[in-house]
Amino acid sequence: ETIDWDPEQAGKGEYDHFMLKEIYEQPTSLAQAVEGRIDDGIDLEEFPPGAFEGIDRVQFVACGTSYHAAMYGALSLTQAGVDARALLANEYGASSPPVDDRTLVVAVTQSGETADTLSALRRAVRKGARTVTVTNVVGSTAAREADDSLLIRAGPEIGVAATKTFSSQAVALTLLAGRIVEDALAGDGLSDLDSLLAAADRLPGDIERLLTESDAAEIARRYRDSRSYFFLGRGQGYPVALEGALKFKEITYEHAEGFASGELKHGPLALVTEETPVFTVFTGIEDDRTLANAEEAATRGAPVIAICPADHPAADVADAHLEIPETDPRLAGLLANVQLQLLSYHAAELLDRPIDKPRNLAKSVTVE
Ligand code: AGP
Repeated sequence: ETIDWDPEQAGKGEYDHFMLKEIYEQPTSLAQAVEGRIDDGIDLEEFPPGAFEGIDRVQFVACGTSYHAAMYGALSLTQAGVDARALLANEYGASSPPVDDRTLVVAVTQSGETADTLSALRRAVRKGARTVTVTNVVGSTAAREADDSLLIRAGPEIGVAATKTFSSQAVALTLLAGRIVEDALAGDGLSDLDSLLAAADRLPGDIERLLTESDAAEIARRYRDSRSYFFLGRGQGYPVALEGALKFKEITYEHAEGFASGELKHGPLALVTEETPVFTVFTGIEDDRTLANAEEAATRGAPVIAICPADHPAADVADAHLEIPETDPRLAGLLANVQLQLLSYHAAELLDRPIDKPRNLAKSVTVE
């Protein structure tokens, strides 16, 4: 008999969706992101020592998930004392930040074809900025139009919802930030660099273990049919809270929103009821303040789900816990993000959503 060979299923292997396959590819894609780049300190062949001399301001321009990754990169620079900002590419023209030949503009775009990001990159080029594209696609328009590019090496990502490309972008941007700090500040780079690079080296294995032990499917079942889903984070946990909410809303079609955890009491707390599960990301920096923020929601009856290591204080007081291994605070958010990717995937499955091709969305938004 003939075997009806479905090329799409073949591409998914044993997974029901490309998104799940790509979540599970992260140990491999992250190993590729760091391969040959963290041997003796940060070693980016595209950007040898001195490549960023004279740069005194860095602007990251991106959209959607890539904007959340850009926030990650900007934070490492800000924490090191470099003037760095992540800017929505579609706001770049209207906000028109100052740009000159001492400005580095980094376009973060996995497809390299996003119209909003190309438009911001072209504005930066016109203004005489130094430009770099961080992308997943060799020869993409953004890669060709920037002075230089840094490939994240995640492999093709088919699911419309970005997963493995976010984690690879965040790691690549953290390494790029380290190189920029070394040149721009003529210092010895990011603080506790050895701890960061050792954590980056452990990241694929940490994620491998997390993927085999995750309780995200059970948590998705427990909180299904909630009215709204909140995501809180601080520091590197803040872009992860935003990313977790974006993932959740784009594939479940349920309302989800991410906040800097300290912002809850400045308004959003008015929405919190026992119908509002609050997923809270702990990275190891100011976790006591983040826990206090989550407890403000708990006193209004909201269930709190702590994403933290097993022996973390939040694990004892939260209603539920998604465990992540101990790691450097600058990378803990990436482990938490894998739990949130799985949460969104399983929640969408329970709702029988198409997952790989959510309504109204495209993998690469080539119109402004
Ligand atoms: C995220 O899951 C979406 N697919 C979307 O927000 C995407 O990140 C955004 O359109 C940017 O795409 P790019 O990285 O290809 O520029």
